[in-house]
Order: sequence, then structure tokens, then C-alpha cells
Amino acid sequence: MKIHVRTYGCQMNERDTESVIAMLGMKGHERAESEEDADIIIVNTCSVRQKAEDKALGKLGLMVAGKRDRPRRMVGAMGCMVQRLGAAILDKVPGLDFAIGTEQEHRLANAIERVLAGAGPVVEVGEDGNLLDNAEELSGHAAGHPSAFVNILFGCNRGCAYCVVPSVRGHERSRLAKSVVAEVEGLAAEGTREVTLLGQSVMSYGRTNEVWPAGCESANGFTEPLARLLEAVAGVNGIERVRFTSGHASGCTDELVRATATIPEVCEHLHLPLQSGSDRILEMMRRGYTTDEYRAAVARLRNAMPGMGVTTDIIVGFPSETEEDFEATRRFMNEIAFDNAFIFKYSPRPGTAASEWDDDVPDEEKMRRNRVLLEEQDRRGLAVNGALVGHAVEVMVEGVSLRNSSRWSGRTRSNKIVIFRPKNGLVPGNVVNIVIEKAMAQTLYGTIRREGNG
Ligand code: 5AD
Ligand code: SF4
Repeated sequence: MKIHVRTYGCQMNERDTESVIAMLGMKGHERAESEEDADIIIVNTCSVRQKAEDKALGKLGLMVAGKRDRPRRMVGAMGCMVQRLGAAILDKVPGLDFAIGTEQEHRLANAIERVLAGAGPVVEVGEDGNLLDNAEELSGHAAGHPSAFVNILFGCNRGCAYCVVPSVRGHERSRLAKSVVAEVEGLAAEGTREVTLLGQSVMSYGRTNEVWPAGCESANGFTEPLARLLEAVAGVNGIERVRFTSGHASGCTDELVRATATIPEVCEHLHLPLQSGSDRILEMMRRGYTTDEYRAAVARLRNAMPGMGVTTDIIVGFPSETEEDFEATRRFMNEIAFDNAFIFKYSPRPGTAASEWDDDVPDEEKMRRNRVLLEEQDRRGLAVNGALVGHAVEVMVEGVSLRNSSRWSGRTRSNKIVIFRPKNGLVPGNVVNIVIEKAMAQTLYGTIRREGNG
């Protein structure tokens, strides 16, 4: 049957979508060209903010309503909201054929078969803990992409006061290094040149379970599990760029900084969510660092890698956030001079510690704070990117630009998008040097100087 998946949420969800499509492909299903063309529609849901859930619920409602005209089309949900709501999702979306939680994705093909046999609706939420056992089954990728995500760590143990992740993605479990490396070897053999190692709190890799066998040595004397994994993945034949996300200020150890700075394939970019520039709010959020510690982490990175891209996430309007707290965030963002920042309005999530506290910043005020930070980030992004005009940057080619089909796009090592005019013979995955001619807050424009090692 033809399958279409609509994905909301983060890179973890994007990765899950890709792996379930690959898994369903092995069972004889195929990817639909478009939603219209699909016999099975799956919505991969996110729970991080209420708005994300509302979007997915809206989409599911529309898809189920569409069954009036196409009664044989199957509509299902997967992902974080399914995990959070369990069978109650059927009350919110009556008529849904199946709902598969984050821990049960390996059972998707089976759920589809059961619905076909008339057993629907099928809900699989289950216990957490078995994802590692199914990691191989879920390790499939779309063929021939120059850039790929690879899961290395499932779940999160941090317990930030606002965050729904531990309840929808379970506790921390790290994949064995050898299984990650095998997946990357498979990708490289199929033409992948760049991998991004994924985990909600990726720097915790290998901290709660053993991932390296005893007696296995690092060539550069690394002892920390993530530094060793970066070294191993960078050493895979054909891999030219390695990234890892998302970071945490407390995980920027000297060794990890050294690994990032000295392993040539590891790119000079880190997404390091700050969340707030007020120490009082950071403590309430249970983030586990102060602004001083965050500042020191960024300084270590930038000292080792001048020109390193640092991007962040900020939450405005957390319970009790005053104008003073907000101003502290604003000042701190200016001080750090982030390359890019994602700003979110606080949204209380059921079951989290913060949801017990009064959500006392009015929505209009959250919107104002959001707008102020976005405008400032735009100005800052323009200044930070403007400094690159006239300089050559190394760009990995991704393909035709989404906005303008006569242009192509790619990314710098610091993760900035560059738009350029293609040259004959250029293919995605090539690495070229581009001289930057124009800079916007989020995008650079330039001309290919000469071909690199692609
Ligand atoms: N409300 C608003 N934003 C949130 N985030 C996580 N939980 C919430 C919440 N309850 C933001 C954080 C995180 C990003 C993925 O989403 O900034 O880094
Ligand atoms: Fe959304 Fe978090 Fe789930 Fe990613 S892990 S899809 S951000 S709830």
C-alpha cells in the first residue's frame, strides 16, 4: 500500500518517520508521491507545546473526516502525543485506525495488518525499555541522501521542569557504539557524506549504560563515550562531516571540546539550548547550569574553534518570569551573540513540575517578549552573518533551493544555509568553496569559487 507520513516536531521525529517508511518498505509498502495518492496516512505527532498537539489533532481530524469520501483509506497517528495520551487519543480523534507510541514503532506494520484484518482501532503504547532491542529493525534510511540523522541516545533523564520529553520518550538509553558505527558504515556505502548524531540530550551518551566494550582504545586518547563515538564515526570511510545535537551546557567538557576542535570531520556548530538568561529562572527550570557556567562553556568552544556557530532555544513567559528576568535573557543573548535562536512561548505540559505552578505571564506579554527577542535575533543574525561577506566558506551541497529552483542550497560547517548558482556536474554531497556576497539573518548568498574535495 502507498504510505504518506506528515511529520511534526523535532529531528527525532523526522528520523522516526524515515525509519518507519524504510521498515514499511521492507514489508512491501511504498512511499506515496503525495498525500492525495496515499492509501495510508500517518501523522507523526509532537507534544512539546500545546500548539504542536493542536496542529497534529487538527490534521488528524481532517484526515479522518476525509474518510467519508475514501472509506478504505487508513488514518493513523504515531509519536509523542500518542505516547502521552495513550488510548485517550481515540476520544480526541474518533475514527482513527491506529495509534502507535514512541516505544512501539517497530510494531507499525503489524498494526496496519491488524487494521486490514478488521481488528481496528489498534493502539500500541506499551512500556518503555525495549527500544534498544529494536534499534536494528528501526535503522533503515531513505536511500542515497548525502546527509542523514542517526539516533544514538533515546529518552532523557534530565527532568527539566517544563519538559514533556521524559514522559513521552522515556528514560535515557544509549545505543552500543558498534551498532551506531555499523549504521554509519551502511549509510556511507550508500553515498551519505554527513551524519548528525541525535539524542534529546546527546552529551549524556553512554552515561547510563555501557556503550564501549572493555579494552577498546581510542586513537586520540579520548575516554568519554561521546568523544570516542565522534572519533569512530568520523573515521568511517566516506564520511566528511559529523554533527551532534542537542547539546547541554554542562556537557561541554574539555575532552568534548578537544574532540570537536581536533577531529577534522566534526563540524564547528553546536545547538546549545539556553532557555533563559536569568539564573533564578534557570534554577526553577532545573536546567543544571548557571549563566556563568553557560558563558564559560561557550568561551571554551569558541576559544578552541573561532568562527564556531552557536545556536540556541529560549522559552519566554515561564511561570513567574518578570520583566527583569526577561531583560536578563535579552542582555545575555546579546552578549553571547548567537548565530541563530528559536524562541518559544512557555506552554504548560500535563505531568511536568512546572505545570503545577501558576502560568502567570499573560499570553499578550509572552507574545511581546517573543517578538522582541525575535527582532533582536534578526538584527544580530544579520550582523554575525554580515561579517562573512567577502570570505570563502566550505559548503556541502544539498540540492535545489526550495525557494528558487534556479538556485541550489547547501550548508556551511557552522550550519548556515548558503544559496548559490549551480555549476555543471554538481551533485548533492559535493563540497565546494563559496565566496559570500550577501548576508541575511538566516541565509547567505554567494558564488562557487572552486570545487573542493567532493
Ligand atoms: N513550553 C515552551 N517551550 C518548550 N520547549 C520545551 N518544552 C517547552 C514548553 N513546555 C522548548 C525548549 C526546547 C525546545 C525543543 O522546545 O526551548 O529546547
Ligand atoms: Fe516534540 Fe519533544 Fe517529541 Fe521531539 S521529542 S517530537 S520536540 S515532544
